[in-house]
Order: sequence, then structure tokens, then C-alpha cells
Amino acid sequence: MTIGTDEKFRFNGLTLANLPRKSRGILRGGGSTRPVIWRVEEKGARAVVKDFSRNRPFFRHVIGRFLVWREKRAYQRLKGLRGVPALYKVMDGLALVLEEIPSESLENLEKQRRLPELFFRELEMLVGRIHERGMAHCDLKRAPNTLCGHDGRPYIIDWGASISQKEMKMPPLNLVYRRFVRDDEMAIIKLKLRHRPESVSRADRARYQYRGRGERFIRALRDWARDLLQKTV
Ligand SMILES: Nc1ncnc2c1ncn2[C@@H]1O[C@H](COP(=O)(O)OP(=O)(O)O)[C@@H](O)[C@H]1O
Ligand SMILES: [Mg+2]
Repeated sequence: MTIGTDEKFRFNGLTLANLPRKSRGILRGGGSTRPVIWRVEEKGARAVVKDFSRNRPFFRHVIGRFLVWREKRAYQRLKGLRGVPALYKVMDGLALVLEEIPSESLENLEKQRRLPELFFRELEMLVGRIHERGMAHCDLKRAPNTLCGHDGRPYIIDWGASISQKEMKMPPLNLVYRRFVRDDEMAIIKLKLRHRPESVSRADRARYQYRGRGERFIRALRDWARDLLQKTV
């Protein structure tokens, strides 16, 4: 989506304190480990706020801050990419103000309707561009992290678990990074299998189902690296 720098400044007056008053409502309630997702509108521009400031103190200050920092870095690296919402600002290191994508999430969407072939071609291109920028999303297997915009195009959100190629340069971490990139690709196949199983090639199906010994080793290494990156704060 095009980034209106203009839009960005419309949220200058938004703070954690005035957020409940200014909000148009809660899009998703928070939980012990989940941020509250608010919807806001300022001078005609819409945003969602992913807010960890209302979580319990330990989670808020340790995990919340860390996740917001990582997600912010990911959005900065992906700035300007169509299919990734714009980051308008971060409030007190605890909440991200993001461009609202008029959309529906892919969670259970296949029960209502099947997404067209073009959607998946665009999703593949989008994920390819993300990888070209040296980022792996790492949580694409969760369908709610992919949105189908009202314009019919794919959008990817929720970058807190993403990994950059830069931080995984040293062997054997470079192999783990490659694995994360493949995981993103596998996630597309998984979504495609739900919506258009007939269009998944045999090769992709086999790739998706294959679990060799080397594969198991690299998966274990990947899970170890992910836990380390997500939990070591
Ligand atoms: N930029 C956005 N535009 C529209 N909806 C969004 C946006 N960001 C989040 N959402 C909605 O909020 C939900 C939770 O956001 P997400 O970033 O995935 O949080 P969590 O880390 O808790 O999974 C998404 O599944 C989506 O429905
Ligand atoms: Mg999510």
C-alpha cells in the first residue's frame, strides 16, 4: 500500500494515555501474552494500534518491549513494500501504530470462499520480495497473519517473530535462516492447499510433506534458534 507520509503525521497527537478515548473500538482484546489491537482514526486516516502497554508489568516491559522493538525493526526494513502495512510510529516502546488494511484475515476464510489463483501468485511475489530484502517472517503458517485486502491483494502483518538474514550470517545460523525462508514458502503451499489444492504441483506437495533426517536436524536447530531469539531478553 502506498505510504502517505501525510497519514503518518495525523497520528502525532495520539498517546498511550489518550488512546482509549480516541479509539474507534477494540479490534481484538488482549490476553496475558497478547497485545490489545485498537482501531483509531485521526483526521480521516485509519490505523490499528498493537498495544502491549496494558499487559502485566513483567510481560509488558520484558517481552512486550522486545517484541515491539523487533517488529519495528522489521517494518523499517520492509518500508515501502506493497503488501506490508506502513508503520506510522511507536509509542513509548510499547505500542505500534500501523496503517489499517481494510481486509479480512485468512483464518478459516476457506470455509466461506476460495481465494483465486492470482491472490497466491501475488503472495508468492510478495514473500519473494520480502526475502530479497533479507527478512524471513517465520510465522506465516498462522493464517491470521495474512490478510486479504478489500482490493483482493495479499498483505502480511505480525512481524514480531521475524528474523533478518544479517543476524543469521554465521554458520550454522545461515542454514537456519535458509530454513526460515523455506518455512515461509511452505506456509504459502499450506494456504494454497486449503484454497486451491488442485493448483499445488506434485513437486510442491512432495516438498511440503518431506521430512528426512537432515530435515529433522535442521528443524530442531531452527526451533532452538527461534526460542533463543524470542525468549532471551
Ligand atoms: N495493519 C492491520 N490492518 C488490519 N488488521 C490488522 C492489522 N494488524 C493487525 N490486524 C488484525 O489484528 C489481528 C492481530 O494482529 P497481530 O499483529 O497478528 O497480533 P498477534 O501478534 O497478537 O497475533 C490480526 O490477525 C488482524 O486481524
Ligand atoms: Mg498474529
